Amino acid sequence: TGYWVIVPAAGSGKRMGADKPKQYLPLAGKPLIAHTLDNILGWPGVAGVVVAIAADDHEFATLAAAQDPKVHTVTGGAERADSVLAALQYLSARTAPDTTVLVHDAARPLVSKGDITKLLSAGPIALLAQPASDTVKRTQADQGSPRVSQTLPRAQIWLAQTPQKAPLERLRGALQAGLAQHPEAITDEASALELAGDEPELVAACRSNFKVTHPADLMLAEALLQHRQTLDQI
Ligand code: CTP
Ligand code: MG
Repeated sequence: TGYWVIVPAAGSGKRMGADKPKQYLPLAGKPLIAHTLDNILGWPGVAGVVVAIAADDHEFATLAAAQDPKVHTVTGGAERADSVLAALQYLSARTAPDTTVLVHDAARPLVSKGDITKLLSAGPIALLAQPASDTVKRTQADQGSPRVSQTLPRAQIWLAQTPQKAPLERLRGALQAGLAQHPEAITDEASALELAGDEPELVAACRSNFKVTHPADLMLAEALLQHRQTLDQI
């Protein structure tokens, strides 16, 4: 009984542009990832947490949460999906094939407990997401100042967040197959499950569940942490 949480935390934080990976930057008095882990350890029914860290990581072991008996680590990989797969392999050897797994980015410290409760009571394959508030344009080019080729119908657009939930072996099989066939298309767990034929359920999340990606996100996260009790209302 209970579910496991996988936390990919092996990225280098290129877009943050800091002198160390963003998960170790200070945020309201402790490293960003410490907020995420302390948050997760307070979720109802969590059996354990597997954190994927970089091979040359020396900071994780210094965190208070690293001493928690529920917290385990594995060595992550080159892409986020490789890190998640390493953690799934670790779990596969230790828990039942149908164990519920939630994958949650280390860089999302502000997910609300109310949203976790909603995700846990959703169907077996589900993810937190945000209905798009901006209009989304498609372009043919990847960068520069491209021209718009299409405007997507906004009412149908959702932005995927984490946690993303699925049964252990279902997710492991989908990620393995997806990485073998279309590695560039596997940017989250749901994308792999979709390729495998599933239709993940979208669960609307609070706006506080953004991913700390750019320097301004750190300041926003710091400001919101002062209002943790109101996160469920924003
Ligand atoms: N991640 C990981 N293994 C990787 C790449 C990313 O475990 N090879 C993790 C990150 O540590 C982060 C989460 O996946 O918690 C979401 O990725 P992202 O926000 O893209 O983080 P980074 O890859 O570190 O940032 P950037 O893309 O700006 O370099
Ligand atoms: Mg990245």
